[in-house]
Amino acid sequence: MRQDQAERLRLLARGLKQQIKAQVCGVAKNCRVIVITSGKGGVGKTNLALGLSLALARNGYKVMLLDADMGLANVDVVLGLVPKYNLSHVFSGEKRLDEILQNGPGGLQIIPGASGIEEMVNLDTLTLSRFVGEVIKLTKDLDFLFVDTSAGISRQVLSFALSADEVLVVSTPEPTALTDAYGLIKVFKQNQGSGKLKLIINMARNRDEGREAAQKLISVVRQFLGLEIEFIGIIPSDTAVPEAVRRHQSYLLAYPHSPASLSTMRIALNLGNFLPEKTRGVRGFFESLFTYFRGRDVREVASKEEKRS
Ligand SMILES: Nc1ncnc2c1ncn2[C@@H]1O[C@H](COP(=O)(O)OP(=O)(O)O)[C@@H](O)[C@H]1O
Ligand SMILES: [Mg+2]
Repeated sequence: MRQDQAERLRLLARGLKQQIKAQVCGVAKNCRVIVITSGKGGVGKTNLALGLSLALARNGYKVMLLDADMGLANVDVVLGLVPKYNLSHVFSGEKRLDEILQNGPGGLQIIPGASGIEEMVNLDTLTLSRFVGEVIKLTKDLDFLFVDTSAGISRQVLSFALSADEVLVVSTPEPTALTDAYGLIKVFKQNQGSGKLKLIINMARNRDEGREAAQKLISVVRQFLGLEIEFIGIIPSDTAVPEAVRRHQSYLLAYPHSPASLSTMRIALNLGNFLPEKTRGVRGFFESLFTYFRGRDVREVASKEEKRS
């Protein structure tokens, strides 16, 4: 009897501790950094990055989106924004970070990356620490920083995934997309990636197709890599997405009642309600990113993988 009581008290104390931790996190606003990545290109990363960011912003979260695609600055293209400046102007000292921020729809703020992302590799310590300082100031009240990356396993793309607490892998149900997603997760594991892996299946023709694709990937990753991926949802193939892009808008705002938007809203709400155990925050993310950019481990593994594929 007494043991039962002691156990109950222990459980109560633990619950209280967790509650306090959650409240403190809320006050301290340790921003969650979510990197969106994929093995194969064209699976919908940029559209989902925008859709999820806007859905969270609509629900009262403060959200910023870093366009870290090394190719074309996709986010801008989708939204029809023509940013005059990007991160490279910040690194050259011409502009401050707050001066290059783009105001997207729905209160979403966008950092245009463009060529600046590649330049990050060669920056000196002083410029980097000045940059991290500016980022921290700007993201003080932020709940989410989404990072849209290019596809594949190049060193830079991998560095983003290795530095985030949460890595959102996007794949379509196509076998090639699933195989490439597996390849990406394999290199992530080889580099001791420690972020939480989450999976969205995009452009599914129906729920069964989406679920089967997810199960396939989850089970091979578990069996051969010993990693767990959290499956967070299916987005149906929906003409609302390309229609909206043609109008230089995100489907989430242009067609809020479309199947793709409703699924995105659902996934975003679940993401928002989830309280991660540990967050390294924006500072931890960028410090880790720069270490990887300058480190040799990732470069070696990624180039070996690139030669092999
Ligand atoms: N759920 C969807 N249904 C239909 N088309 C989609 C969907 N998601 C993305 N697309 C289309 O797929 C193409 C690639 O999307 P994009 O977001 O640019 O991919 P990525 O950033 O991975 O290269 C775009 O033409 C987009 O309109
Ligand atoms: Mg893209």
